[in-house]
Amino acid sequence: MKIGFIGLGIMGSRMATNLQKHGCSLVMFNRTRAKAEPLLGPCGTFSDSAAKVADQVEILFTMLAKPDAVEEMALRANGFLNYLRPNAVWVDCSSVNPSFSKKMAAAAKTRQIHFVDAPVTGSAEVAADGKLVFWVGAEDGDLETIRSLLLCMGTKIVHVGGHGMGTSLKMVINLLMGNAMAAFAEGMALGEGLGISRKVLFDSLLGLPAVAPFLATKRNNIESGNYDPEFPLRWMQKDLHLASVSGYETDVALPVTSVTKEVYRLAIREGHAIEDFSAIYDYLTTTHQTELR
Ligand SMILES: NC(=O)c1ccc[n+]([C@@H]2O[C@H](COP(=O)([O-])OP(=O)(O)OC[C@H]3O[C@@H](n4cnc5c(N)ncnc54)[C@H](OP(=O)(O)O)[C@@H]3O)[C@@H](O)[C@H]2O)c1
Repeated sequence: MKIGFIGLGIMGSRMATNLQKHGCSLVMFNRTRAKAEPLLGPCGTFSDSAAKVADQVEILFTMLAKPDAVEEMALRANGFLNYLRPNAVWVDCSSVNPSFSKKMAAAAKTRQIHFVDAPVTGSAEVAADGKLVFWVGAEDGDLETIRSLLLCMGTKIVHVGGHGMGTSLKMVINLLMGNAMAAFAEGMALGEGLGISRKVLFDSLLGLPAVAPFLATKRNNIESGNYDPEFPLRWMQKDLHLASVSGYETDVALPVTSVTKEVYRLAIREGHAIEDFSAIYDYLTTTHQTELR
């Protein structure tokens, strides 16, 4: 079975590597070709367009930044949906909003393509270790077609429901993570402002029921001031925005998230876009505080 992979950024490159490690032969495309180079060889070829990938494969994975990127790759004049063969399966692992996933599922259906939304939870390291969690929105049969491939990249698959339900759960998870990170950074800022050392704050707060467990993995970033991206801050702001869009579409008020997403927006304006989203701490404790003096 020939498999395509489009989008070889932080996550996609690691996921594609794990498919190859399990013996899958991939046809790949990435807007920036250089990122595909380490994956080329006996189990990987590069096609110079998304359309050319689609033309050769029965299953196509996409792992792209945001809805516009997915739409551009899938639906523009030379988009891959026009080149996938009938009955091919398109698995979109990108974090996008549920209504967008439903729109892509409908566009795929008119071309007799099976669509699966399968966003993931897990950092770059978790992706490299093949331990991702997949949140799946799909018809039962389509999930069975791709289940063994997902298990090359992850250890847990949750079939949430039909199209758009995988991305629905993903929106909820990232809403929780984005708010938790920002709240923790703000708490740290206050603690330090009150004269508590950063070490005492970390030692005391991590492990408390009030603190989300994932925040322990951000201690090193904050202590070292090294915000090399595991999950880029601009994509967290994107996810909070997409959660907000989803709230609007479903008449659900998201007042806390609406404020938090603007804090991340301000951090982007201050140069933190491509740093890890834990750099929200740096924004809140450095730039913002300095601005106020
Ligand atoms: N990093 C994480 O920890 C993590 C965890 C879970 C989910 N996610 C989600 O996974 C997705 C990918 O994230 P990532 O961390 O791998 O980001 P990334 O490293 O920035 O990769 C983004 C990918 O999208 C491509 N892209 C962006 N805009 C495009 C456009 N207009 N046309 C074509 N391709 C475009 C990029 O191509 P270029 O290489 O040419 O820029 C790259 O392949 C996002 O939806 C993110 O929210 C990330």
